[in-house]
Amino acid sequence: MSNTVDTGKRRFLTAAASVVGGAGAAAVAVPFVSSMLPSAKARAAGAPVEADISKLEVGQRITIEWRGKPVWVFRRSPETITALDSQNDKLLDPNSDMTSQQPDYAKNKARSIRDEVMVVVGICTHLGCSPTYRPELAPEDLGPDWKGGFFCPCHGSRFDLAGRVFQGVPAPSNLVVPPYYFQGDNRIIIGEDAQGAA
Ligand code: FES
Repeated sequence: MSNTVDTGKRRFLTAAASVVGGAGAAAVAVPFVSSMLPSAKARAAGAPVEADISKLEVGQRITIEWRGKPVWVFRRSPETITALDSQNDKLLDPNSDMTSQQPDYAKNKARSIRDEVMVVVGICTHLGCSPTYRPELAPEDLGPDWKGGFFCPCHGSRFDLAGRVFQGVPAPSNLVVPPYYFQGDNRIIIGEDAQGAA
């Protein structure tokens, strides 16, 4: 499976993610191993997927497909994490009180298990367009107050780098954080939480 990596300015392909069970395991072509992998049908129905973030640099984002949806995983800088507190008065749901938008373990300032790694479904909560990743500070087209985030080109909704929606835009809620957990330092399982309940 190939997944997209981008830094906001350039795009290239990587094989940084694989279905649970492992691309590596599939590559050695041991027959009984392949039978343990989720089928395409199982993946479509919601089998968990796995992301390797060992090569994910600060500012970079990878896109993983889960249940037919793009799930973005990106690495935030310490400065970005600090800045998450600075715009709360402009956000619609700064404390993630809308419980449908994230698991309980992501109901925090960074909306994530680890502050530096964000995992979020890349679908606008207005009408389902794909927002663009704009991690840079104050770009000309988004204005001097822009501290990095996501901009939806369809109707102009804006989200910060925790996927929290700004007030006064069409999107009614924060981007969805899917269930996920870490396996070690660099492996993320997307589609179920650590207790195994999706
Ligand atoms: S679909 Fe994103 S603003 Fe309308």
